[in-house]
Amino acid sequence: MDRGADFLLSGTTALKTEDLKDQMQLVTIGKTDLATALQTPKRLSNYCAQLEAGDILFFPQTPIDIPGDDLAFLLGHQQVGGAYHKNIAYRPLEDRITGFDAQDSTGAKRLRGIMRRYSDDVIGFLRGFLGPYGARWKVDYASYRPEEEQGRDLSLRKRNDLLHTDAFPTRPTNGDRILRFFNNINPQKTRSWITTETFDALVEKMRTGKLNGGRVPLPSSMTSSAAKRALASLGLGTLAPSLRRSPYDEFMMRFHNFLKENSEFQKTCPKQHWEFPPGSSWMVYTDMVSHAVLSGQFALEQTLIVSREVMVIPEKSPYGVLSRLAISQN
Ligand code: SIN
Ligand code: FE
Repeated sequence: MDRGADFLLSGTTALKTEDLKDQMQLVTIGKTDLATALQTPKRLSNYCAQLEAGDILFFPQTPIDIPGDDLAFLLGHQQVGGAYHKNIAYRPLEDRITGFDAQDSTGAKRLRGIMRRYSDDVIGFLRGFLGPYGARWKVDYASYRPEEEQGRDLSLRKRNDLLHTDAFPTRPTNGDRILRFFNNINPQKTRSWITTETFDALVEKMRTGKLNGGRVPLPSSMTSSAAKRALASLGLGTLAPSLRRSPYDEFMMRFHNFLKENSEFQKTCPKQHWEFPPGSSWMVYTDMVSHAVLSGQFALEQTLIVSREVMVIPEKSPYGVLSRLAISQN
């Protein structure tokens, strides 16, 4: 394992490391490292801890085998309704795709088959690699991202080129974790990311007035109020997402929006640049690591919602951080 692969820092914008005290690391896992790690439970726990601390695990050669025919098909296909559907999504539990041309039923069937296989393979790999979690996760969507990310015309809150931590507007997690596994399938171009500090550091800065642009009210308790519970029990919680959301999810959603809407923060925060080359994979807790994609085209991704009960360092998780702050406010 080799920490901090310097060659991956593009250096196009100054990397102001002195501003990033607990800088996140890129943990590079080559083929031999991977083979050894898969036989060594202690190393796997260590990788889980590194992910939870906000590091990015990087596989220069993807451990996922994607057949050449599948790649050729993917690279030849665009999505439709790009303004409405940000990506092509595959829902493994329903075996369904969205965001693809419904008129093209042969193409849709083929794409669904490719996505099903990709999703199964990633989950199969993660079952071994994330062995310490004992598969205590929900399999969320996979996605295909065929659009060039640079200069995409998306509404501000949907933009991915602005730094943010992830939160799902319609799929609350209640403190469970958003883990994402990516493949850059572009044959030539790197996928270019920036990151800044992790969730815990950003919330602390916001709380102490050191983050420009105001604040998001911290949850006063992490349990849903009696009123919300009563509405939910009457089936009325489905009326509006904000009624359905737990205090945790409400905060995470507002924090996501707050970061994207905060132009001063976007401009001035210290940044690290990462370039993910063709054929590589990387994985990251995107509810913890603030991230943005600046350029790149053609990526595959699988999301898992990992139970907060199996975290190796639960105190570092967004739920752990917010629970402590909620208690200290009372
Ligand atoms: C994001 O999760 O914000 C976008 C990441 C990517 O598509 O590379
Ligand atoms: Fe994101």
